[in-house]
Amino acid sequence: MNSQAYADWSSEVLAQVESALEEWVPIDAPAGLGDAMRYGVLDGGKRLRALLVMAAAQAADAEQTPTGRDAALRAACAVELIHAYSLVHDDMPCMDNDVLRRGKPTVHVQFGEARAMLAGDALQALAFEVLTPDACSADLVMRAPIQARLCRLLARSAGQAGMAGGQAIDLASIGIALDEATLRDMHHRKTGALLRASVQMGAASAGIDESGPIWEAFTHYGDAMGLAFQVVDDILDATQPSDTLGKTAGKDADANKPTYVSLLGLAAARAEVDRLLKQAQDALSGSGLSPERTRALSALAERIVHRDH
Ligand code: IPE
Ligand code: IPE
Ligand code: MG
Ligand code: MG
Ligand code: MG
Repeated sequence: MNSQAYADWSSEVLAQVESALEEWVPIDAPAGLGDAMRYGVLDGGKRLRALLVMAAAQAADAEQTPTGRDAALRAACAVELIHAYSLVHDDMPCMDNDVLRRGKPTVHVQFGEARAMLAGDALQALAFEVLTPDACSADLVMRAPIQARLCRLLARSAGQAGMAGGQAIDLASIGIALDEATLRDMHHRKTGALLRASVQMGAASAGIDESGPIWEAFTHYGDAMGLAFQVVDDILDATQPSDTLGKTAGKDADANKPTYVSLLGLAAARAEVDRLLKQAQDALSGSGLSPERTRALSALAERIVHRDH
C-alpha cells in the first residue's frame, strides 16, 4: 500500500471511528462525568488500536457482511475506550503523575482526581456496552457468539493477565534493573496485550476460527507489533520533545522506570524494533492471505514503528 493509499484508507476508517465514539460516549452522564469521559477519549490520539482492528477485519473479510462490519467498528471503538481509560489512570498522581496528554492537560488536572478515576471506570464499562448493543432476537442469535468472543478477548487483554497486570509490574519496578525477559514480559502485558487483542478482535469480527492459520498468523503479528509499540514508546520518551509527543518527554528516566532504552541503550532498542517489524511482516507473509488482503496491516506495522509520537 503506497502512502497515499494508506492515507486514504486510514482517514476513512478514522472518520468512522470518530463519529461512532462521538455518538456512543454520553454527554449526559451525571455530575460532569460525561465531560470528563469525552475529554479523555474524543478528538485525540493516533487511534492505532482502532486501525489495527479495522485492518485485521479487512484482511479477514469482515466487511463482506453487515454483522461483520458492525462488529469490527464496535470492536475498534471498544479497544480505544479501554485504551483511553488506561491512559486516564496511568496519568494520575498515584501512577505516573503526568500533567500533559494528547497535547492537553490530563483528565485529573482538568477535572480532579475523583472524577478522573470515575471517568476511567466508566470508559472501561462503556467498552463492553458498545460491544453488546440491544438487538432484536433474530439479530441477537446471529451476533451473540461474536459479541461473546469480542468481550472475552478484550477483557483478557485489559485485566490482570494483560494491561492491568503489566501496569502493576511497571509500578512495582521503579528503580529496579529488570532483566530483558522480565522487561519483555511487562511490555507484552501492559501494552502488547491490547494491541494483540485489537488484531484478534478484527479477525473475530469476521468469525475467523481460533485454531486456524490466519488466527495464528495474526496473533504472531499482534505479539510482535504489541512489543514493538512499547519499545518505540520508550525510545520516543527519551528522544522526542514534549511538543512532538503531546506528553511530557523524559518521564521514564525522571521516574527511574526500567525501559528498553535504560536496559539496552538506544541503538540496541532500535535494532529490537527492526527485528520485531520483520517478525510481524513475516507473520503476514506466512498467513496464506494475499498481499492485497494484508496490505493495510503491513502498512500499519511500518507506521507503528516509524512514528515520531
Ligand atoms: C500511549 O499509547 C500509551 C502506551 C501504551 C505506550 P499511544 O501512543 O497509542 O497513545 P495515543 O492513543 O496515540 O494518545
Ligand atoms: C502506559 O505506558 C501503558 C498503559 C497501559 C497506559 P506508559 O506510562 O509508558 O505510557 P505513556 O508514555 O504515559 O503514554
Ligand atoms: Mg505508565
Ligand atoms: Mg505514563
Ligand atoms: Mg511511555
